Amino acid sequence: MAPLVLGIETSCDETGIGLVRDGELLADGVASSVDEHARFGGIIPEIASRAHLEAMVPTLDRALTTAGVDLADVDVVAVTAGPGLVGPLTVGTAAAKALALALDRPLYGVNHIIAHAVVDTLVHGPFDDRVMALVVSGGHASLLLVDATVHVTELGSTLDDAPGEAFDKVGRLLGLPYPGGPHIDRLAREGTPDAIAFPRGLTAAKDQAKHAANFSFSGLKTAVARWVEARQDAGEPVPLADVAASFSAAVADVLTAKALAACARHEVGTLVVGGGFSANSQLRDLAQVRCSAAGVRLRIPPVRLCTDNGAMIAALGAALVDRGVPPSPPDFGVDSTLPLTQVVV
Ligand code: KG4
Ligand code: ZN
Repeated sequence: MAPLVLGIETSCDETGIGLVRDGELLADGVASSVDEHARFGGIIPEIASRAHLEAMVPTLDRALTTAGVDLADVDVVAVTAGPGLVGPLTVGTAAAKALALALDRPLYGVNHIIAHAVVDTLVHGPFDDRVMALVVSGGHASLLLVDATVHVTELGSTLDDAPGEAFDKVGRLLGLPYPGGPHIDRLAREGTPDAIAFPRGLTAAKDQAKHAANFSFSGLKTAVARWVEARQDAGEPVPLADVAASFSAAVADVLTAKALAACARHEVGTLVVGGGFSANSQLRDLAQVRCSAAGVRLRIPPVRLCTDNGAMIAALGAALVDRGVPPSPPDFGVDSTLPLTQVVV
């Protein structure tokens, strides 16, 4: 029987426990401390660390019950080693090391960002060839080439804000609750996407040589702020839905244009989109339209597997076991800036 892999995720504010066997997701328990951070308008690492500590055992117990297995049935433990917040990562890896030691099982410290792409294999099957992965979240935007053995080449990343971060900042500007991303998504559906011409960062011809696969969203965020301020200074009402729709359209345009250009450049026929921001409906819709037009297969996991979860860590752990990668040394440390090319520590 294929090994039962336990995945533990604690890189940000979600305590995620996933159980995977033979490409099948048996349980996916998540506890979030997002509400505890709302009044600060951003994640407070100390609060998140404490919440992980409190949620770890109950979330693990819930996942085991859902899967109908005992802790002793777990064959392999996988945990996020980075990138992420040091305190939260430390709580997760400490729990994973304790479990692996107590159960005498191999332990894999894995890369959170790569896991955001690999989780799609639980839904749409193994990557049978090279895929282009667009991983977009509150902390990241990266274009990666991932081959069938989970070898990763980083093509580009954001030079400043991540898309989720830009959404959360624009959300604050528009007076929406934290995190603003989902609120802007909802508002945008009532607005006109081409009402306001916001800039598309790093898409000019002069940027193509160096930044074809890099992103920049801070100029866009500033442009939205200036536009809103100008309306307020003029004593005119701010058309929130049109601002949200035009801003969302700019982000989705840049992400999908660059991802499909990278597919064409590297002759890749499949685009995988993952990470918390891939919940965004403007991105999903435009990616579908443009992939269909370009003859590229689009793979996006369902929203609950796009946000941080333990299933993605278990999926990546299982992929590493599958290809015979040796486990991590028991004394590995967390790495808040773990390079994207390092799939396992
Ligand atoms: O991957 P994730 O759960 O956590 C990180 O690793 O960052 O992503 C959360 C981010 C937040 O910035 C949130 O506002 C954004 O993803 N987000 C959205 C949507 N759902 C979540 N942004 C835009 N539209 C959405 N529907
Ligand atoms: Zn994430």
